Amino acid sequence: MTTLSLKNVTRRFGGLVAVDSVSFDIGSTGVTAVIGPNGAGKTTLFSLISGALAPSDGQIFLDGRDITGIRPEDVAARGLIRTFQLVQLFQNMSVLDNVKAGQHLHTRGGIFAALARPGWARREETQIEARAWELLEFVGLSDHAHAFATALPYGQQRLLEVARALAAKPKLLLLDEPAAGLNADETKRLSGIIRRIAETGTAVLLIEHDMTLVMNTADEVVVLDFGKKIAQGLPEEVQKNPDVLAAYLGGVEIGHG
Ligand SMILES: Nc1ncnc2c1ncn2[C@@H]1O[C@H](COP(=O)(O)OP(=O)(O)O)[C@@H](O)[C@H]1O
Ligand SMILES: [Mg+2]
Repeated sequence: MTTLSLKNVTRRFGGLVAVDSVSFDIGSTGVTAVIGPNGAGKTTLFSLISGALAPSDGQIFLDGRDITGIRPEDVAARGLIRTFQLVQLFQNMSVLDNVKAGQHLHTRGGIFAALARPGWARREETQIEARAWELLEFVGLSDHAHAFATALPYGQQRLLEVARALAAKPKLLLLDEPAAGLNADETKRLSGIIRRIAETGTAVLLIEHDMTLVMNTADEVVVLDFGKKIAQGLPEEVQKNPDVLAAYLGGVEIGHG
């Protein structure tokens, strides 16, 4: 089953074609990685998928429904949640509250009802709290639940961002360079977490520079260069593709870690 389908998606900035007629499908499970040199159009592609930018051309379907050009909050409400290349947490909230806030998108009451607290909202609140603890456990942050989010070391802030995104129960999770700034140990842990997310029925689409993470985590890899899709396939195929190697010449090396 196809969760996300891109058909000739294009985005121009003046004369520059940042994303150039890109098409691919992703299924309802598994991990797909989008890779490519700096400036290849990866972040722009994510912004198009998540509704932050409108495509100049082409169409985007989520579960077979056309979501081209709809607002980011409507895309999110349909089950597509993204994290950002730079961490964007709620600064003055605890770790636990950050995860709880991530769920309000999908609750009947939203953040305001949580303040007014009719009976059903209180019951929801109990579920939200339990679910938040589960997610903190899942990413290994439950010991830090009551710390300020910003007091966490960077690597843990990234994991918190993943937990907060999962709180919204996405069908499809978009991760923009989740391993940026992580050390080798943290990257390995993140890889395990991403695999488990995919195994529990959330499709994952990630942009990543860290080739170790991509090669160890992705089921399929899409390669962009100058806005165009130049390759798509299994990690081990893409790794040997001459066009991909040429695109990366002088850039990062593609290798197993
Ligand atoms: N808002 C924008 N206005 C103009 N040019 C942009 C904008 N966003 C991205 N670009 C350009 O589009 C190209 C792709 O950028 P980006 O999607 O950030 O690449 P990547 O994430 O692969 O490094 C780059 O040449 C970049 O300078
Ligand atoms: Mg980018």
